[in-house]
Amino acid sequence: MSRIAYVNGRYCEQRMAEVNIEDRGYQFGDGIYEVVHLYRGRLVDEDRHLGRLERSLREIRLPMPMPRAALRLVLLEAARRNRITEGLIYMQVTRGVAPRDHAFPKHPVPPALVVTVKRIPPYPTNVDGWTGTAILLPDERWSRVDIKTINLLPNCLARQAAREAGATEAILYDAATGIVREGAATSFWIVDAHGVLRTRHLDHSILPGCTRDALMAELRAAGIAWEERDYTVEETRNAREAFITSATSFVKPMVKLDGQPVGDGKVGPVTRKLFALFERHVKGNA
Ligand SMILES: Cc1ncc(COP(=O)(O)O)c(C=O)c1O
Repeated sequence: MSRIAYVNGRYCEQRMAEVNIEDRGYQFGDGIYEVVHLYRGRLVDEDRHLGRLERSLREIRLPMPMPRAALRLVLLEAARRNRITEGLIYMQVTRGVAPRDHAFPKHPVPPALVVTVKRIPPYPTNVDGWTGTAILLPDERWSRVDIKTINLLPNCLARQAAREAGATEAILYDAATGIVREGAATSFWIVDAHGVLRTRHLDHSILPGCTRDALMAELRAAGIAWEERDYTVEETRNAREAFITSATSFVKPMVKLDGQPVGDGKVGPVTRKLFALFERHVKGNA
């Protein structure tokens, strides 16, 4: 069965789908995206993701292409037409089509909306089979990465560097201070040398991860302590445990950093517990 995409008001065969070459997303990366995990036909952390989409759009002064409730129906319909109940839904909104000019179009044009759906493997059954490895790299992105823009060139270069090093993810740090920020496409957490669960505080230099936020809500409910406190590359190298979170990584242990084992190189007890906690979060409401 061929994949179906939603493109500006129409559902069409994805391989036939086209966007105008003067779309500002194509020309300038002038747009916003979101990725939502679909589990048994349900949009996991829907409010968090659609709320962040609205915020990102506001920050770049772009209107929602349609009200949230209508968008939700488009996402579910796109999944239905692809006969996918477990996968990821990608949505992208750009500033639309206009003659190429850096400044916004003089006469507003409608934002362009594209939605695609992709099947993903079933939810991992076992955390020990869900491990990955990471490398540390200086962060070369712009200063507003809290906005989920489609400008992802530095993220792509970092992911490629990770792949070439045989690793899963690149963890980015501020070269000036040595403070660790986040992964190329994931939030990053450690259990430090003293056993404290930590992740970096939110500001303009990391994306406010929806999985990060959902995990924090679960931690709160379970009475598990954590700190939103910055940590350095050195603290990361000395960490007992490290893991990434994202809509499609869930809680994913990082068992090696730059080729060296994190702790004893196996999934640690805290990561193991949080993997189970987040699994309940995803599956619990299904
Ligand atoms: C840079 C970056 N940080 C963190 C995340 C994790 O965000 P979420 O948990 O909402 O998937 C992503 C996800 O794409 C990302 O691109």
